[in-house]
Amino acid sequence: MTRDPSQPPFLTGERLVLRPLVAADATRDYLAWLNDAEVLRYRAPKALPTTMPQLRAWIASLPGRGDLVLAIRTKRGDRHVGNIALNTILWVHRSAELSIMLGAADARGRGYGREAIALLTAHGFASMGLNRIWAESPNPAFNRAVASLGWRREGLKREALLVDGKLVDVVCWSILAREWKKRGR
Ligand SMILES: CC(C)(COP(=O)(O)OP(=O)(O)OC[C@H]1O[C@@H](n2cnc3c(N)ncnc32)[C@H](O)[C@@H]1OP(=O)(O)O)[C@@H](O)C(=O)NCCC(=O)NCCS
Repeated sequence: MTRDPSQPPFLTGERLVLRPLVAADATRDYLAWLNDAEVLRYRAPKALPTTMPQLRAWIASLPGRGDLVLAIRTKRGDRHVGNIALNTILWVHRSAELSIMLGAADARGRGYGREAIALLTAHGFASMGLNRIWAESPNPAFNRAVASLGWRREGLKREALLVDGKLVDVVCWSILAREWKKRGR
């Protein structure tokens, strides 16, 4: 996968860089993630396929949406392995929702999720002036990742999503700027 030279890294971590998602990122690999059973497993809109025109249109709509959507790329091999975003940015209330998808199966379970979440959380507090970042997920890997970064569990949305034919609880999380700062990040 080649890199769009007009998009330098925006946030840089130990093994990952995050940079804006651009039209050139709409590859067949990326489209495959959006139709992959493992990725769809824990997502709310899971019953409908995504097509290439829909993916391209979504990327094209990003600049007007007001969300911060970044491609997650490995430093080694400069490979696009997923996306991470701050959505529902409420500037007045200084809060935003974090969402993440590691689409490439071989990129999961290697600490990339935790690293990308830490990078974007730090950016949200240090550079965007946010006070609260929140997320909700039924995915045990996501829940462990945010718990290990000091996010607080706020509650449960009971039986909110159908996963493998069973209604499961969605865990609600948040972290506040002062809590992140206290952890010395
Ligand atoms: C959820 C996701 C972001 C986690 O990222 P990841 O890089 O795979 O996870 P990490 O390697 O950073 O591991 C985070 C923690 O989860 C644990 N973990 C990893 N895979 C796991 C699994 N399949 N089941 C349970 N725990 C798991 C790790 O051991 C680690 O816990 P620890 O710190 O206590 O050891 C990623 O797997 C993903 O994008 N999945 C598909 C889409 C999705 O479900 N997104 C979340 C919806 S909000």
